[in-house]
Amino acid sequence: MNDRAFQRCINPACGTTYAIDEVKVACAKCGGLLDIHYDWDHLPVPKSLNFFENRWNTKGTNTEGRIDFSGVWRFRELMPFYRSEEDIVSIGEGRTVLQQADLVARQLNMKPGTLLLQYEGLNPSGSFKDNGMTAAFTHARMVGARRVACASTGNTSASLALFAALAEMQGVVFIGTGKISVGKLSQALDYGALTLQITGDFDACLRRIRQIAVDVPRMGIYLMNSVNPFRLEGQKSIMYRILEARGWQPPDWVIVPGGNLGNCSAFGKAFAEMKQLGLVKKVPRLAVVNAHGANTLHTLVNGRKLAWQEGRYDASIVQTHYAWMDEQNVQAHTIASAIEIGRPVNLPKALRALSVMDGVVREVTDDEILESRALVARYGFGCEPASAAGVAGLQKLLAEGVVSPGETVVCILTGHELKDPNATVKYHTGIDLKAAQDLAPRSEPHGRLANRPIPVEDDLDSIIRAMDAR
Ligand code: F0G
Repeated sequence: MNDRAFQRCINPACGTTYAIDEVKVACAKCGGLLDIHYDWDHLPVPKSLNFFENRWNTKGTNTEGRIDFSGVWRFRELMPFYRSEEDIVSIGEGRTVLQQADLVARQLNMKPGTLLLQYEGLNPSGSFKDNGMTAAFTHARMVGARRVACASTGNTSASLALFAALAEMQGVVFIGTGKISVGKLSQALDYGALTLQITGDFDACLRRIRQIAVDVPRMGIYLMNSVNPFRLEGQKSIMYRILEARGWQPPDWVIVPGGNLGNCSAFGKAFAEMKQLGLVKKVPRLAVVNAHGANTLHTLVNGRKLAWQEGRYDASIVQTHYAWMDEQNVQAHTIASAIEIGRPVNLPKALRALSVMDGVVREVTDDEILESRALVARYGFGCEPASAAGVAGLQKLLAEGVVSPGETVVCILTGHELKDPNATVKYHTGIDLKAAQDLAPRSEPHGRLANRPIPVEDDLDSIIRAMDAR
């Protein structure tokens, strides 16, 4: 077993450590989030980032060829938690593109060469989630997991289902009824995951699945949501690829939509580590962009002045806000269904990332998201609505003068345009295909591999019965 890597609670008042092969969804002592830590002094870390470029030349379908081809594992010395390279579950994820988007830049009154779009929709399942799944499935294989599960607004479930099929594990996904776009639902079904449509939203689904993972051990669930710290190890690679595409020069800004706040947390960890290892001198600034209807991070950071404070952040601010949400029955609601999340589980890690990367948080309206999505698509290959929240946030930051037109900005386009064709068609024609689908008569599926979603009440016994039935 790899003894140079371990899991550690991020709460500085706790800091409990766990071996790398333990399966945990939170710190057993204090309930805090876990991080993967490395004993860098005893690990072979390259002296400079150029080292990774040589891997572009590797050919072959053997292990080395396979993992050098991956845009995640090409950087494996920066995520060395695995036991052996044979454990790595990879499907050529992370072969994504950083595009210099001068035509979009012109529309935003930015100088040519200053706006870059990172197309994570080019991943095998069509979203950035594959960067994290390859890492978490590698850990799942290391520990012998057989059944993997997640709650999802759609992309996590698509990615999980794809990797589960590949790794021969049973995939179980919890989705809120009517909450995910048709492109994402179709993927989970097609890759054979047991798809439970729970009456409730993402927050309810995540609560349930965490409960089952912890309280019902006989279900043998390995949790694949971004509370799984191995997911975030893989997602660090998005930052490495951006640096690589820029000749290892950090941009001035990285802008990313915020949902469950796993991605921004991973970015902060990537830069904290690279700084510690002397691999970068400059750390870009981070902007996390919420949808107005799912703006917990924005409210807490800008409205209630919540800050990381070296891990001693004021948790009572969060509790008071959640109690108010419960009291008022406030639920997340946005057209950008991927980020329709009211209780982001990675909130503390996101606060840490904002501190590491001198970050800011903004919120944007659904109209701003839809206009930004259409703008990106108008000048070539586009993205799904949630991804465009970053571009909408950029426009806000330019208007405020927080980002100046000469600064170099990378917006992370997190998901493929075809994930949510309904949103696009509705924008251009006014026709709501989703509403039409809901009204359409249904017929029994008769394909040999038909895999119907199963509607289940948000109730522990009903959910367990549905899982046992498979
Ligand atoms: N963009 C897209 C396309 C997403 O699918 C998600 C998250 C985000 C942004 C937000 O990223 O959670 O790391 O802050 N989707 C999750 C899911 C929650 O279940 O697919 P985050």
